[in-house]
Amino acid sequence: MAPLPLPIPGFRKSSIRQRRNLVSTSPDPVWNASDLSATSADPAILDLAEVMVENALGVMPVPLGIAQGFLIDGVQRAIPLATEEPSVIAAASFAGSLIARHGGITTSTAEPLMTGQIYLEPGNLPGPEVTQVLLQQREGVPVLLSSILQPMAARGGGYRGLEAEWLEDLGMVRVHFHLDVRDAMGANLINTCAEALRPWLEELSGGSVIMAILTNQALGRLTRARFSLPFSALKRGTFSGPQMAQRMVRGYDIARLDPARAVTHNKGIMNGISSLALATANDTRGIEAAAHAYAARNGRYTSLTRYWIEEERLYGAIEVPLPFAVVGGGVGFHPAAQAALKVLGHPSATELSAIAAALGLAQNYAALAALTGEGIQSGHMRLHGGRLAYSAGARGDEISRLQTLLSRDGTFNIPTARRLLEELRGEKEES
Ligand code: MEV
Repeated sequence: MAPLPLPIPGFRKSSIRQRRNLVSTSPDPVWNASDLSATSADPAILDLAEVMVENALGVMPVPLGIAQGFLIDGVQRAIPLATEEPSVIAAASFAGSLIARHGGITTSTAEPLMTGQIYLEPGNLPGPEVTQVLLQQREGVPVLLSSILQPMAARGGGYRGLEAEWLEDLGMVRVHFHLDVRDAMGANLINTCAEALRPWLEELSGGSVIMAILTNQALGRLTRARFSLPFSALKRGTFSGPQMAQRMVRGYDIARLDPARAVTHNKGIMNGISSLALATANDTRGIEAAAHAYAARNGRYTSLTRYWIEEERLYGAIEVPLPFAVVGGGVGFHPAAQAALKVLGHPSATELSAIAAALGLAQNYAALAALTGEGIQSGHMRLHGGRLAYSAGARGDEISRLQTLLSRDGTFNIPTARRLLEELRGEKEES
């Protein structure tokens, strides 16, 4: 089929309903009725899509599920996750419940600081001198920003300091300023402040600001979580508890020392964290960028988690910057994000980050245990069976029945799924 021949005249200025019409009517419709319904025909959802992004055409429904059984800082938690990947929710629920039976996960977070960056090319003065002048004058910054920051200060947040550094290689002064953004992600506020400081910096230095923007590095949002499990809880298949503990630490060593494995290891961690970010309409890309940059902070990409053994227990820990928000942006606006936050009892932003860290750690535990135990495929394939059943045409309760038949058969492909579905329907007719 030919791709959508964009640009369609008038597309940008049309309403979402007009756009859906444009792509689904003659002379050469790209979408048919089932494409329209797959991208939602619900008028309220279409209106929402329209005000959220440009050129909206519909929505992409991603399943929203619940990872159950977590105990985080003594609070039982069900965690909403939006993901297209089977086994993410099952794996998180498995590890979350196992760890909960042995004391749960504990976390710690810092104050929610985000950082703005301004890169300044000095004028006639030497760079190091400009840097000194800026540092001497930095007391003036909170005064300059006070009206912008007044609402945030009223909520307990606001300005928390400024640094300036001469970057010889770049030939620029880099200014970093920090804001406590409380429950927000802070991107808009930081960017507004960064641009407000621009003329002041240029006047003071006689130089020119090249750019001013938030950094997604989010080092001020470092979040930690940890758990421990007795060897007796680790037994898996033919491997004893102590063997599993050793194997898991060796599995972690691989991710620690080999960046090629660390990427997949951390991707598994982000399976949970990004799904929570999506369920709550947080900035998934910002959170992922922060996490992966942190994994490479020492110049070599490595694991975001650590595992070790102490006194017949396996310990697991994670440390990662998690700039989650619970107000502003998509979070404050999207009704589905609000519904997801209700599941968590409306946490603060730092609590949500702590839940995300615990979730990422549990997700990683589940993957590492499966990989160093019986292997990942058996569990995955059973869940994949649901998709195969759907693709083969199963609907309603046929899906789970066909899934069971596929697992029993052990051959996971469409022809087998179709054959088993025919047999299933045949049996139904006979009975
Ligand atoms: C799959 O989405 C995630 C895993 O590959 C993670 C890992 O290998 O640690 C299972």
